[in-house]
Amino acid sequence: MQAEFAIIGGTGVYHPDLLDGAEVRILETPYGQAKATVGTYKGRGVAFMPRHGAAHSIPPHRVNYRANLWALKALGVHQVLATAAVGSLQLQYAPGSLVVVDDFLDFTKQRTQTFFEENHVVHVDMSDPYCHRLRRHLVASARQLEIPVHDGGTYVCTEGPRFETRAEIRLYQSLGGAVVGMTTVPEVVLAKELELCYATVAMVTNYGTGISANPLTVDEVVQEMKRNADNIRRLFFHTIDSLSVDRDCNCGAAVSGQAPLTGDQPK
Ligand code: HPA
Repeated sequence: MQAEFAIIGGTGVYHPDLLDGAEVRILETPYGQAKATVGTYKGRGVAFMPRHGAAHSIPPHRVNYRANLWALKALGVHQVLATAAVGSLQLQYAPGSLVVVDDFLDFTKQRTQTFFEENHVVHVDMSDPYCHRLRRHLVASARQLEIPVHDGGTYVCTEGPRFETRAEIRLYQSLGGAVVGMTTVPEVVLAKELELCYATVAMVTNYGTGISANPLTVDEVVQEMKRNADNIRRLFFHTIDSLSVDRDCNCGAAVSGQAPLTGDQPK
C-alpha cells in the first residue's frame, strides 16, 4: 500500500483505530531499516512513523533520520506532518501550547545531515525550511478546531539527550529562539533534500531549564505529551483532510530546481 501523507510522531500520537486497513511495514533502505504503519484515512493513504521506534527506545541523537525519511519517500509520501516535544524559551509559549515552527537554529553536533555524500555536492536552500503551505493548513485547522496555536517561532535544536544548562537556555533566548528540542535537525533538512513537504508542530511540554523554579524531569515532559496527544491527533487528521495532493509550493524542486541531480533517490 502506498501513502501520500505521513505523520512522524512521538508517544501517544498514533492510535491504530485511526487508519483503515492499517498494516505494519518494515522497509529496507540504503541507511538501514525503518518501520511504519500504513493505512487509509477517508480514502487517503497515510503512513505513521514513530520517530523513536515503536517502544520509544531510540534517543534523539541515535534516531536513523535518513532511513526514516527515505522509507517514507519510498512509500510514495510527499507530505509529512511531524510533531516533537519541546521546552519553552519564552513565557508566552506556555506548557500545553502548540507552535507551528517556521525556522530553526542548529546546535546538534554529530548527526549526518545529508543524503549527498559522494559524487556530487548539494547545498540545499534553507530560507524556508518548513513548507509554508503545510504550515498554513496546520494553523487554519488548529483555529477551526479551536486548538490554541502559535503561528511561527524558531526551534533551537540541541544534540541531547541531556537537557540544557541554565546558561544554554539564556543563550538560546538571547538568540531569539522560541522553543528548544532535540529532533527537528536533521529531519527537516533531509526532508527538504528528498523534496518532501514537511512541517513540525512543536508541543510545549515545559519551560526550559531555569525558567521555572523546579528542576526539569522526564516525567513532566511525558505527562504533558500525553495530555496533548489528542489535540495533535485531531489537528493532523483535520489537516490531512484539508490538503490536496497537488503541491503548489516549491518543495518539489528543492534540489532538482537548483542543480543537476545524479544521485539515486527513491522514485
Ligand atoms: N529541552 C530539550 N528537549 C525537550 C525539552 C527541553 O526542555 N522538553 C521536551 N523536549
